[in-house]
Amino acid sequence: MVRKIFIGILCFFAIQAININLPAQTGDISKEEPHRPQFHFSPKKYWMNDPNGMVYYNGVYHLFFQHYPGGIKWGPMHWGHATSKDLSHWEEQPIALYPDSLGYIFSGSVVVDINNTSGFGKDGKPPLVAIFTHHNVIGEQAKRIDYQYQSIAYSLDEGKTWMKYEGNPVLNNPGIVDFRDPKVMWYELQKKWVMTLATKDRITLYSSPDLKTWNRESDFGKDLGAHGGVWECPDLFPLEHNGSKVWVLLVSINPGGPNGGSATQYFLGNFDGKQFTPVDTATRWIDYGTDNYAGVTFSNTGKRTIFMGWMSNWQYAQDVPTTNWRSAMTIPRELEIKAVKNRMFLASKPVKELNNLLKGTVALKDIKTKNNYDLSAKAGNITGLFQLELSDLPLNDFSIVMANEQGDELVIGYDKTSNQYYIDRTQSGKKDFESGFAKRHTAPRISVNKTIKLKLIADVASVELFADDGLTVMTDIFFPRSLISRIYLKSAKGISIKNLNYTKIASALK
Ligand code: FRU
Repeated sequence: MVRKIFIGILCFFAIQAININLPAQTGDISKEEPHRPQFHFSPKKYWMNDPNGMVYYNGVYHLFFQHYPGGIKWGPMHWGHATSKDLSHWEEQPIALYPDSLGYIFSGSVVVDINNTSGFGKDGKPPLVAIFTHHNVIGEQAKRIDYQYQSIAYSLDEGKTWMKYEGNPVLNNPGIVDFRDPKVMWYELQKKWVMTLATKDRITLYSSPDLKTWNRESDFGKDLGAHGGVWECPDLFPLEHNGSKVWVLLVSINPGGPNGGSATQYFLGNFDGKQFTPVDTATRWIDYGTDNYAGVTFSNTGKRTIFMGWMSNWQYAQDVPTTNWRSAMTIPRELEIKAVKNRMFLASKPVKELNNLLKGTVALKDIKTKNNYDLSAKAGNITGLFQLELSDLPLNDFSIVMANEQGDELVIGYDKTSNQYYIDRTQSGKKDFESGFAKRHTAPRISVNKTIKLKLIADVASVELFADDGLTVMTDIFFPRSLISRIYLKSAKGISIKNLNYTKIASALK
């Protein structure tokens, strides 16, 4: 009896120790939602896919998103809504657009109609206008081919409430099964709106004086780029490069990504208000990881071009092991053009606002290591939420291993022979929900610099690798059985690291 009580007391203290230790190590990470991202936007409940209608207006970033508020799998699509003042802390808002008699609300964009071309404005206040695809399920079930068409809605209270236009749809289906995801921008030179629309295996451009009447201008891409799946979610925008304008056309594709499933390719070229003309026939990818899809840019951000994608993949998005909600967005990224040996590429960098969440850096210099260097010992309490920056690395094989107490490991590295970066999630935790999930993903090193520079951003269930100032990017999600609590640097041949910065990232959840 005494022995039993003694064991009971021991167990009690052991459990307390676990309970007490956990919060200290995990911050606000709850046991009910162990995979809840702490600084990436995820809906409080239910299903989410593409970012929609991203727009900056009066000091607020608006993120609308494909949302099914009735379950954690894809269903009748609504536009969810979240806002942020700093691109780091997001607050979920009431649903913005509900399905109606014309159909589900599929992906689309929002513009600030500053000149009130639509006439929806009131008392000098410009309207926000949403341009989206109506997906008519009844038509789909009846095996019609014209069940997707474009409609608009407007808001006069900064995105809080929306009125659908009584003249919807504004762009009828010409007889194409996949006819969706309008992204609209103002083309100042010709004072007109330009829409890019995914039309099955190409992008069709339309223009409009008032967002209500649309004229077809041109088609692009039937014989260019990757075509392993249907084309979706385009975006066309200019970037300054060496004093001139380079036009970027993003095109998401599902499946057919470089590491399987869905991914986003891009083209660089010129745009004359009518037609997009690419500079070459190369296929380029904005992100080689498996978890950055349907990403587009915010409108109305002035000189900055800010991109955000859906941090999942149609291959397994509906099966990932979260229970109350499904999926998150990538961190917002600023885009720019960089030239490498006279060829242009799109580079992505985490937005500087992410620095608001940084908590103090452990800076190490001139690390020389062979085999295993345990950063955990130096960096102190590793929380699973961190930014790791390495610079001036020689071009030798090396890897960064993120591990937990269970022995789960996510490995991020560089392979000299193939000149590739990689993320290996084969042993990274839960993986049985889909047979293709546990894989090693690779990405070409695009930079030709003599040394490597990396920035790695890790949240509870994701890692985003920005190599060589964002020339090669990889985003992968993973589901470790407990939080990452160790980091090792590995190099069989040995490696010296000039500068290493390990910085904790604070949770942005309330
Ligand atoms: C891309 C996509 C879009 C569509 C939406 C539906 O992920 O398939 O083409 O509008 O999702 O939710």
